[in-house]
Amino acid sequence: MTCTEAPTAISVSFRPLRPTDHDVLLEAILANVSWYVDLFNDESVAFGRRLASYADLEPENGDFGVLAHIADHWIGVTWLRFFTSADHGYAYVADDVPEMGVCVRKFVRRQGLGRALLTRSLAVAAARDLPGVSIGLPQDSPARSLCERVGFAVHSRSADRLTLLADRRALDAAAAARLR
Ligand SMILES: CC(C)(COP(=O)(O)OP(=O)(O)OC[C@H]1O[C@@H](n2cnc3c(N)ncnc32)[C@H](O)[C@@H]1OP(=O)(O)O)[C@@H](O)C(=O)NCCC(=O)NCCS
Repeated sequence: MTCTEAPTAISVSFRPLRPTDHDVLLEAILANVSWYVDLFNDESVAFGRRLASYADLEPENGDFGVLAHIADHWIGVTWLRFFTSADHGYAYVADDVPEMGVCVRKFVRRQGLGRALLTRSLAVAAARDLPGVSIGLPQDSPARSLCERVGFAVHSRSADRLTLLADRRALDAAAAARLR
């Protein structure tokens, strides 16, 4: 299976993320943090609540995302959420720059789906006239090279985390790539 825009042996469909996809997002968020965070410690309940709040997509606040699925089964997802300087996630840049998360299910990784989801999401951000999109990664994340290939660049770093930013130019380039 490949996930290019051309017809493929197994057909992958894409659609906008909806608030009713809450459980998909929760699963994706847990999958993303479980490999580098100890989920079972004294802070588990508070941390769990915080994670669950990331799955509350609020389209009225501008939040959006893209879901990739085969029939009724989701295989990959992006979610882009707006935060404020007073209350934000791990990749806050500005109130009008959404923080993006991405997760592709393990059995379909390394076949181009992550790239397709990121490019589509940046193109939607361009269509919405946003100034940029940010993403937060652990310093040693293998996802960094993929993000850089679709237009993200390092915006800031802490001891163990990176904030990457796709600026307006990168969004426009993603939109143009979608048209080719
Ligand atoms: C990152 C992620 C979305 C990539 O999805 P994908 O469908 O495999 O992506 P693509 O097939 O389009 O691109 C694969 C590229 O991603 C990079 N990559 C991502 N994860 C990797 C890994 N575990 N090992 C090596 N390379 C990896 C490589 O650059 C790879 O390119 P290559 O196959 O040419 O070497 C997927 O691995 C994932 O869900 N990871 C866990 C969640 C995560 O890290 N999210 C980012 C922070 S929110």
